[in-house]
Amino acid sequence: LNRIQTFATRHRSALILLACVLVFVAAVVGVMLVRNNDTSRADVADDRVALADVQQPDAAAVARGRYVAVSSDCVACHTNHHAGGAAYAGGFELQSPFGVIVGSNITPDRTTGIGEWTERDFFKAMRHGQGKNEYLYPAMPYNAYAKLSDRDVHDLWSYMATVTPVQNPVDANRLPFPFNIRLLMAGWNLLFFDNSGFEARGGEAPEIARGRYLVDGAGHCASCHTAKNMLGGDKSAYLQGGLLQGWFAPEITNDAQRGLGRWSEADVAGYLRHGFNAKGVASGPMAEAVEYSTQHLTDTDLRAIAKYLKGLPGSKSQVPSALAATDPIMVRGKHVYDANCTACHGQNADGLLGLAPAFNDNPAVRAQDSSSMLHVLMTGGRAAASQSNPTAAGMPSFAWKLSDADMAAVLTYLRNSHGNAAELVTARQAKDARTSTGAREPLQAKR
Ligand code: HEC
Ligand code: HEC
Ligand code: HEC
Repeated sequence: LNRIQTFATRHRSALILLACVLVFVAAVVGVMLVRNNDTSRADVADDRVALADVQQPDAAAVARGRYVAVSSDCVACHTNHHAGGAAYAGGFELQSPFGVIVGSNITPDRTTGIGEWTERDFFKAMRHGQGKNEYLYPAMPYNAYAKLSDRDVHDLWSYMATVTPVQNPVDANRLPFPFNIRLLMAGWNLLFFDNSGFEARGGEAPEIARGRYLVDGAGHCASCHTAKNMLGGDKSAYLQGGLLQGWFAPEITNDAQRGLGRWSEADVAGYLRHGFNAKGVASGPMAEAVEYSTQHLTDTDLRAIAKYLKGLPGSKSQVPSALAATDPIMVRGKHVYDANCTACHGQNADGLLGLAPAFNDNPAVRAQDSSSMLHVLMTGGRAAASQSNPTAAGMPSFAWKLSDADMAAVLTYLRNSHGNAAELVTARQAKDARTSTGAREPLQAKR
């Protein structure tokens, strides 16, 4: 494996070029194929009335559509939260590994939004990744929304007609060549996009099926929790953990070591409802997913999600055995922990319920990748603010205080004590996290 990695690093540009050629060839074939099947599942959609002209949509459909919008988290990417932008008016910048992609204005404004779109256009964007005149980038999770039922997309359309139109031209995407060529997405689609709808599985209980529908469709959980290949396509290790913007979205299958195996269904549902449970606290991108989306789901739906996830076998991963408490790095880590962390996380790492997470049965701590933990230590963090837990507690940044080696030691200690066992965190990883999060150097001069 090491040798493959060295090879990949050394020939990085050649590999990227090769990948681009591959995508380009696929693009040519893709254009031919996708053109032919792009209306396959949008026949029910109305092709005459533009969104801005929809009159008095059915109230029940609007109410259902609002729920579809919330469970799909449209507002997260289509609202410019940082600049206090209006809901759905666009301008939010998504940092992808390929460059900056800007969420569109999807209000019914005729000039800068989607007011002139018909329902058919909307279906094609939602389930085929095709904008009015161009291919969309998969930063818009159409590969998940392809699973949405005809009725859900129709209801969503009815709801979008009730959104206040806002005139707001959004900035262009900032993608370097060759990723600025939208046509390449035809190739991407051919390689990675599964346009089949949600299909019932024989013998699957209705509740589990509902959970799978929500996780794979509206919730687009895989867009963060499934690892991506070099071109941003899903790897096959479904929901077994993925990296995004310096965070790690851990495994959420029932795997006992890395996943939710030691959480009950109620623990999972509670985390999605409140942004925390007795074992963990949602931070970073997951805090946002809870705030905008999962906290607003019905109890029935949260239970269905929990049941479905708890039924997935997962990676069955082997974890290393825990380091001995006498190991020098463990001794140093415990020292750092006792001096800096116990006030909030507790002497026994059992946390403060609803405020600071515990570390003694928190799968995020045992994750194969420690990026989220390093991210929180470097930048500090804020837990999810939910209706049931409005005062989101904050975690202070320790970048000014702890050296890379201290951070590595304290995290290694947490990952190998209190019933946990996981790979070491190295000072090198801490240094990289310091750079990538733009955190400051520690105060004390290092020698
Ligand atoms: C994870 C982020 C994300 C989420 C969630 C998301 N979108 Fe998008 N969406 C985008 C981005 C980014 C674009 C622009 C893509 C591009 O430039 O190709 C986009 C484009 C679109 C477009 C095409 C607009 C145009 O002018 O071409 C529509 C319509 C749309 N989204 C609707 C929705 C709806 C409805 C939802 C919720 C069901 C939703 N999106 C959820 C990121 C997201
Ligand atoms: C925008 C990216 C993103 C999306 C979308 C997302 N998650 Fe997460 N999720 C994360 C990250 C990052 C973490 C780790 C947060 C932390 O360590 O505090 C996480 C943590 C979790 C955890 C806690 C796991 C643990 O080991 O502590 C659960 C459960 C979870 N997510 C479920 C879901 C479900 C279910 C969905 C879909 C409805 C979903 N997530 C969608 C990014 C995401
Ligand atoms: C003032 C209280 C406070 C102190 C002191 C504190 N933390 Fe935190 N910590 C929090 C809160 C609150 C959260 C949840 C919010 C978040 O994740 O951003 C958190 C979250 C975390 C997480 C993320 C856990 C997860 O499930 O994603 C890690 C890792 C962490 N703290 C480690 C530490 C370490 C190591 C120290 C000592 C060097 C420390 N904390 C000191 C309050 C604190």
